Amino acid sequence: MSSPALSGAVAHHPWWESGVIYQVYPRSFQDSDGDGIGDLAGVLARLDYIAALGVDAIWLSPVFPSPMADFGYDVADYCGIDPMFGDLAAFDSLLAAAHARGLKLILDFVPNHSSDQHPWFLASRSSRDDPKRDWYIWRDPAPGGGPPNNWISDFGGSAWEWDARTGQYYLHAFLKEQPDLNWRNPALRDAMMDVLRFWMDRGVDGFRIDVLWHIVKAEGLPDNPPNPHWTPAQTERDKLIQRYSTDQPEAHAIAADMRALADGYGERVLIGEIFLPNDRHARWYGAPDRPQVHLPFNFQLIENDWNAATLNRIIADYEASLPPFGWPNWVIGSHDAPRISARIGEAQARVAAMLLLTLRGTPTLYQGDEIGIGPVDIPPDRIRDPQHWRQPTLDIGRDRSRTPMPWDASANAGFTTGKPWLPLNADWPVRNVDAQLADPVSMLALYRALIALRRVTRALAIGGIAIAVGDSDVLAYERWHDDDRLLIALNLCAEPRQLLLPVGVRIAEVLASTLPSHPMDGTLHGDGGLVLRLERDD
Ligand code: GLC
Repeated sequence: MSSPALSGAVAHHPWWESGVIYQVYPRSFQDSDGDGIGDLAGVLARLDYIAALGVDAIWLSPVFPSPMADFGYDVADYCGIDPMFGDLAAFDSLLAAAHARGLKLILDFVPNHSSDQHPWFLASRSSRDDPKRDWYIWRDPAPGGGPPNNWISDFGGSAWEWDARTGQYYLHAFLKEQPDLNWRNPALRDAMMDVLRFWMDRGVDGFRIDVLWHIVKAEGLPDNPPNPHWTPAQTERDKLIQRYSTDQPEAHAIAADMRALADGYGERVLIGEIFLPNDRHARWYGAPDRPQVHLPFNFQLIENDWNAATLNRIIADYEASLPPFGWPNWVIGSHDAPRISARIGEAQARVAAMLLLTLRGTPTLYQGDEIGIGPVDIPPDRIRDPQHWRQPTLDIGRDRSRTPMPWDASANAGFTTGKPWLPLNADWPVRNVDAQLADPVSMLALYRALIALRRVTRALAIGGIAIAVGDSDVLAYERWHDDDRLLIALNLCAEPRQLLLPVGVRIAEVLASTLPSHPMDGTLHGDGGLVLRLERDD
C-alpha cells in the first residue's frame, strides 16, 4: 500500500474540529413521564452519562412540534418544542445544564420541507392566491395530465401529490406529509434564516442541517435522467439520477448565507447532511472567502464494504478530495443507518470504534453504538418507520437503529415506566449501560478509553495522517503532531496478521487496544486493533 494521504495540522482548532459529537435521538434516549417516548427532561437526567463519555457536543435529532409522520423530520413549528418532548423552558434548562458541563448543543434544522400541518403549508394550500402559495413548490399537471415531472420521492412513489381543491400538485422529496419548501422565494428564505437566529439567540452551538443538498431544485424542474445501473435491490428513488432535484448552485449560495449568519454569532458549527461523490461533496465547504458548512457529513464508513482495501481507498480518496481549509469528519452510525454492530459484528465494531476515534477529522458517534447494540428484531406489528411501509420489499427499516437506550437491568431497561415506543434490544438485560460501566473490557469502556485518549493526544485530535503499509487485511495509518508519532493498526479479519512497523522505529507504548490482551511479538490478534506510540530505533 502506498502513502497517498498526507495532511498536516492547521493552527487554530475550534471545538468542532478537535471534539467528538454524540448524536442523541430523543425519542429513544430516556423517558421521564412514562409515555414510552424519550423527552428533554430525560436527556437532562442522563447528561452526566454523556459528559462522562468524554464527548464535546450533543446533536439532538428534531424536538420541534410535529405530527411525527417522519418522527420529527416533519416540522410544524420551527421555533417551538413538541409537548411530547417538553417545552421551551425544558429546552433552556437542558441547554444551560449542557453548557454547565462543558457540552455544546447542536440542533437539527430541517430546511428542505416542513410538515403538511405547518401553518405556512396550510395557508399555501388554502388557495392559489394565498401570499404563502409560493413558499412551497406547486405546479400544474403535465400537458397530458399526471405529475409535472418524473421525480421520485426518496421514500418511493412519485414526488408529487395532487391537491384537488386548488387543482395543482405540490412537490415532496420525502413523504407527502413533508412538502418541499421553496427557497427561491425571498420571504420564505428570510423566515428560515430567522429560525436560525431564534435558536442561536437562545444559545445553541450550531445545527445539523437535514438533507442540505436537496433544498433548491433546477429552474423549470426538468425530468431527472434514468440511472442505467439501477437494480431491484436498490430503492425506487435510485431509478433516477437526481441531477435536477438536488445539488444546485443556488443551494450552495444559501449555505454560504447560513454560514455568514452563524459566523456572526461566534463559534457556531454548521454540519450538512449531504450524500454526494467526493468531488461534489467537497464543494459544500465553499471557498475561504465565502465558506459554506464547516462539516459536510461524511458517511463513507457507513456506505462502503468493511475490508482493509476499501477502507484504505476511501480514506485516501476522501483526504485527497478536501480543500486545503476543509476539516474532515467521519460517521459510523445514525438513526437512518443500520447499527454498526449489526452490520459488521461486535468484534469488528470494536475495531470500527478505534477507526472512528483515531482517523483525522471530527467523529460523530450515534447513541447506543457505544454499548454495541446489534441486530434487533422488530415484530411486524411494531414497525413504525414510514420508509419501511412505503418500500416493504426492501430491507431498509430504520426502526432497528432507533430502539430505546437500555440503561440498566430494571423494568424496560430503565428507559421508561410505560411501554417503550419501539422494542428494546433483546439482550438488554445484559447489554445495558450499567452492566458495561461495571465491565472494564466492555464496548463502553473501550469507547470511553478511546475518547479520553483522543482528548489528551494532539496527534489524534488535530494531527496529520498518512496511510502506512499494512499486512493483508490490516488497515494501518500514522498520526502525528510535533514529535509525537503514532501508528494505528487494525486487523479487519478474525485471524491473526502481522504487524508491520515503519522502518527505523520501535514501539514505545501501547496506548489502546480493542482486545484485553495484545502480544508484543509482531502479531496482531484477529479482530485486534492497536494504537501505538512510536519512537526512533537508535
Ligand atoms: C434525513 C433524516 C431522516 C429523514 C429525512 C427526511 O435524511 O436524517 O431521518 O427521514 O432526512 O427529513
